[in-house]
Amino acid sequence: MDAFLLKGPSRLQGSVRISGAKNAALPALAASLLTKEPVRLSGIPQVADLRTMETLLRGMGVSIEANGPEEATLRAEPVTSTEAPYDLVRTMRASILVLGPLVARFGEARVSLPGGCAIGVRPVDLHVKALEAMGARIAVEKGYIHAHVSRVGAHRGRLTGTVIAFPTVTVTGTENVMLAASLARGVTRIENAAMEPEVVDLARLLGRMGAQISGAGTSTLEIEGVESLGGAEHAIVPDRIEAGTYLAAGAITRGDVTAENARAEDLGAFLEALRNAGVEVTAADGSIRVVARDGLSPVDVETLPFPGFPTDLQAQLLALMTQANGTSRITETIFENRFLHASELVRLGADIRIEGHTAIVSGPRRLEGAVVTASDLRASAALVLAGLVAEGETLVRRIYHLDRGYSGMDRKLAALGARVERVAG
Ligand code: UD1
Repeated sequence: MDAFLLKGPSRLQGSVRISGAKNAALPALAASLLTKEPVRLSGIPQVADLRTMETLLRGMGVSIEANGPEEATLRAEPVTSTEAPYDLVRTMRASILVLGPLVARFGEARVSLPGGCAIGVRPVDLHVKALEAMGARIAVEKGYIHAHVSRVGAHRGRLTGTVIAFPTVTVTGTENVMLAASLARGVTRIENAAMEPEVVDLARLLGRMGAQISGAGTSTLEIEGVESLGGAEHAIVPDRIEAGTYLAAGAITRGDVTAENARAEDLGAFLEALRNAGVEVTAADGSIRVVARDGLSPVDVETLPFPGFPTDLQAQLLALMTQANGTSRITETIFENRFLHASELVRLGADIRIEGHTAIVSGPRRLEGAVVTASDLRASAALVLAGLVAEGETLVRRIYHLDRGYSGMDRKLAALGARVERVAG
């Protein structure tokens, strides 16, 4: 199993190019299932989760032709299977994104339940209830969700638009309904919809394919279903979480880092937290620069759905706050059990106490290199950030978690001046 060996402390300096967003590319690939026509995507990040989605789609008969390292043309004709098997769904919960498109186009799907996840219970009940409300009959058998739309009676094999009022904001839940509703009969209204930039990006792609969607980026989406969708070309939006991670790396090392291909409008709450911490942030068209000098201030932050502070940058901020002068409080409101990185950071010398959903971080603490183990994607990023400033060698184990969502992180960090190597360990 691969590990990262970091030698610190280091000071990062320079520019890093941000890849397309993993969380936008996943639903974009799933959207290809909605049409017989080719869908050409660019900005597909080279990360393991995208490889998993490609394997899943290929297993259904979708042809995927690479047009370049980050570009591909997908053709979902013929589709030979409407099943998402356990072995793939187990490794990537976002596989659930194929459920909506399959039911909408073929009137049936069989998708494994995702199962356990290191960051707590992550159910898919809201996806299932929404599709039921649109006329799918759903049964859970032997660990699989079977969805089926009757070919006789009112539905005639097609989902029907309705009002879906989500009790909780769900990103992939919103996306699944958007995908399904694009081919449904009539109008679907999603209330309490997710407003994340990745949702807006999916709406843009679906619009290019011929879907009728309004309200993207607000909490109410309206989708008027069409009979069929066509092919499209689409460039995936930049990854705001990857950008935020490198900006945090710049800040924690008291460095000077510019994220190219990054959109400040997608990172408002995060950049505000950095500014409150005393980091100099300048945003230009398509890039964001941070300059951090000595003396970071503590911040209090609560994770929230967009435009609030993203849960996917919580771990990185926590790592940063170990170096601030004073006590920060970071509250996680989206997921249970998302402070697994805290105990590993403590092993490097951080002072972090967990009280319920809040991490109380006191700094600054001098970190010292040690062997630490990554537990999930963003937690791994936090350990790498800490390893950049820890004295001596830090070995971050199980970085397959990092490889799920960060494209060439060792290479990108090394280009900024970090001493990092990918090793077996
Ligand atoms: C997406 C992102 C993930 C990010 C998260 C929150 C992708 C592929 N992943 O995950 O990186 O951390 O948004 O911004 O885009 N919930 C239910 N029932 C459901 C669905 C969700 O109770 O059927 C709950 C979850 O347990 C969680 C909350 O809703 O507490 C939000 O989760 P959700 O937005 O659905 O996360 P994902 O879409 O899985």
